[in-house]
Amino acid sequence: MSVKESSVELSIESIIERDVLSEEGIRFYLPEDLKELPIEVLKSVSSTNIYAKKCAEERAERMLVLAEEQTEGRGRRGRSFYSPYGTGLYMSLLMKVERSLAQFVPITVAAAVAVTRAVTKLSGKEAKIKWVNDIYLDNKKICGILAEAVSDAKSGMLTAVVVGIGVNVFTENYPEDIKDKAGSLLPEALTRNELAAEITKELLGFSKNLNTPELMEEYRRKSMVIGEEIYWMEKEIRKEGRAIGINESGNLIVETKEGKVILSAGEISVRKSY
Ligand code: BTN
Repeated sequence: MSVKESSVELSIESIIERDVLSEEGIRFYLPEDLKELPIEVLKSVSSTNIYAKKCAEERAERMLVLAEEQTEGRGRRGRSFYSPYGTGLYMSLLMKVERSLAQFVPITVAAAVAVTRAVTKLSGKEAKIKWVNDIYLDNKKICGILAEAVSDAKSGMLTAVVVGIGVNVFTENYPEDIKDKAGSLLPEALTRNELAAEITKELLGFSKNLNTPELMEEYRRKSMVIGEEIYWMEKEIRKEGRAIGINESGNLIVETKEGKVILSAGEISVRKSY
């Protein structure tokens, strides 16, 4: 496969070779107020989320962790996240919080919006959000988000949040179970350093003020689910209905034959084939 850059045909292999993740490379694209953000770039790690959660115990500040490869990349609902070397963006942002767990939903909403903004700005293509927080481009999932809470062992209080973001940038040859729905960004010009910086900038920008109606409005506007016929599984029983909205808490409102249903978590599928 090849892409065009300044009217020169470049192979994906040569682009990947040039697109090396680095602390300096990411810092270069960060705005002035984030130039001091602690950043760690690892060659290989089990999971950047696990690594960031460990760091949370020793650090009193926020940080960004990235890896060229994850050997045990984690997805939501106990799934794994395919993370081969050098082809994706695997990043975790550790943010210290002194708030209640109620802030957790807006952080995942903010992460989804941050990724769509960054992808759309840098690729020029319209990224959409599949509830809860998968990011789609051209009807393929290009990004998954896994936010995890870190709490103090003694008090049980929430002390930090790790927002893990995995973007398929140049990834190809997906495993059998995801090959029909997964896709890659396949950028013509952007680098993973630039993408990491842009997502970080957007997300940290939101983190100062998460509960704004504008944020939820953008999340709704970018939803590829509202207005669609959907189905989901409840105790092994298939349920279906039409997604009609997303409420202030980020829950999906579904109209079914039996009446309105509010879904707060879980996985839904859109009935037309995405
Ligand atoms: C999903 O699609 O279910 C969520 C996937 C989240 C993947 C990212 S990659 C960086 C971070 N580290 C992990 O182990 N998972 C998240």
